[in-house]
Amino acid sequence: AKQPVRVLVTGAAGQIGYALVPMIARGVMLGPDQPVILHMLDIAPAAEALNGVKMELVDAAFPLLKGVVATTDVVEACTEVNIAVMVGGFPRKEGMERKDVMSKNVAIYKSQASALEKHAAANCKVLVVANPANTNALILKEFAPSIPEKNISCLTRLDHNRALGQVSERLNVPVSDVKNVIIWGNHSSTQLHGEFITTVQQRGAAIIKARKLSSALSAASSACDHIRDWVLGTPEGTWVSMGVYSDGSYNVPAGLIYSFPVTCRNGEWTIVQGLPIDELSRKKLDLTAEELTEEKELAYSCLS
Ligand code: NAI
Repeated sequence: AKQPVRVLVTGAAGQIGYALVPMIARGVMLGPDQPVILHMLDIAPAAEALNGVKMELVDAAFPLLKGVVATTDVVEACTEVNIAVMVGGFPRKEGMERKDVMSKNVAIYKSQASALEKHAAANCKVLVVANPANTNALILKEFAPSIPEKNISCLTRLDHNRALGQVSERLNVPVSDVKNVIIWGNHSSTQLHGEFITTVQQRGAAIIKARKLSSALSAASSACDHIRDWVLGTPEGTWVSMGVYSDGSYNVPAGLIYSFPVTCRNGEWTIVQGLPIDELSRKKLDLTAEELTEEKELAYSCLS
């Protein structure tokens, strides 16, 4: 029998957490024959809610779920984890300065990076979901220098999946017949162009308007897609979008966490090379890189 994989979910008492943990426990993230032990972290004010989630996980009697650690202690949460899905963060509130929100998230990601660095299993893979996802991932990378940079990523798969969904609806074909869209750069409003693009960009807001709650189901599902493809590989002839540490491909500045088209094999992603970039896309690639560079500078200014 396979050894259980330990999967950390931070912010596990939140909206996305509530949708995500049952998916992981059911094998959606790592496959139907991979036992898991869930580590769930949240902050003290959410401890009771977190315990409620744990009670429901017990009640769901998931055959693959071999244990649940529900805690507000970062070290306990990070100990021996093989996969870390970072959903917890400080949300932007009405009237708050961008710098103040950044500063809160920089502090969170700095301390959680140190805990992962010291206590996670060797070769732990990290996915940052919490916004600003690219920059939180970059801070995490900076403060967990022993975790290989290849192991630190951020989620743009939700935008990728939203784009697949829009193409499928517009052409009236099953979404399984659509592939190889690309999200370049930031998980933000500088993504791309045109009506298709605005729909994808504003999809999160449209769902909040309709549901009065955020798009937790699709965010959780895309986080599972991201990790599954990373660990188990992308299908032949298919690429996906992942926010990863830029090596300068496509003239994107090195040293940013930037979303690229990637294929995955043997647990490693590779940026798809040599795709033609037209003039408009070039502008957009540069614009989103500028935005990320500015965000990086803001994050660094919060450190000093
Ligand atoms: P939420 O507010 O329902 O949940 C966040 C949870 O994080 C809360 O339970 C909170 O107590 C917890 N938390 C706060 N600080 C923490 C800390 N230091 N350690 C551990 N937990 C902490 O929010 P929701 O809807 O679940 O979204 C979570 C994050 O994901 C947000 O930052 C959101 O902007 C982001 N997001 C990113 C997407 C992407 O595509 N990259 C898509 C959708 C959401």
